[in-house]
Amino acid sequence: MDVLFSKEQIAERVQAIGKQISEEYDGQSIVLIGVLKGAAIFLADLARSITVDNTFDFVAVSSYGRARVSSGAVKLIKDIDNPIEGKHVIIVEDILDTGLTLSYLRQLMLQHKPASLKIATCLDKPERRLVPIEADYACFKIPNRFVIGYGMDYAERYRGVDDIRLYPDTPPGH
Ligand code: XMP
Ligand code: MG
Repeated sequence: MDVLFSKEQIAERVQAIGKQISEEYDGQSIVLIGVLKGAAIFLADLARSITVDNTFDFVAVSSYGRARVSSGAVKLIKDIDNPIEGKHVIIVEDILDTGLTLSYLRQLMLQHKPASLKIATCLDKPERRLVPIEADYACFKIPNRFVIGYGMDYAERYRGVDDIRLYPDTPPGH
């Protein structure tokens, strides 16, 4: 599979975003909320590139599929473990695609009354957006191609591939 972004390119962008976040939240504490499972590796790298005090938590939502695309319904499978009221929160996602997942999660997290709420995504596929939502931090914008690696999967495989690669086919629902 062709490499879209090498591990060196990814590391450079993650470092840059970590530095930007560290400057913007200077003197504050932040809570990173990763969206399982795809964002786990990005969150692990991002958390280590952030120099301000940070903790992390995870949520899980219903998996990507044809049904979800047509219905636009997203279901929460795992909620956060610790309260985020009054905290500075950044949701960390692997890909911002149609925007359905992050719109849903943003609304849900806002109900917990965080002091602030931002979105960091490794990849952004702006062409596929169905709802208006933008990331505050994104490593790369990509065209409408299915990708794997760096946490991202095809049918649960390839998450451990350490660069981001183009998957040769378009899976159902994409
Ligand atoms: P939405 O469409 O709600 O969904 O923004 C974002 C989620 O869709 C998955 N997704 C992908 N996963 N390669 C993947 O491995 C891709 O190219 C891709 N595009 C979307 C991903 O789980 C993301 O969280
Ligand atoms: Mg995901």
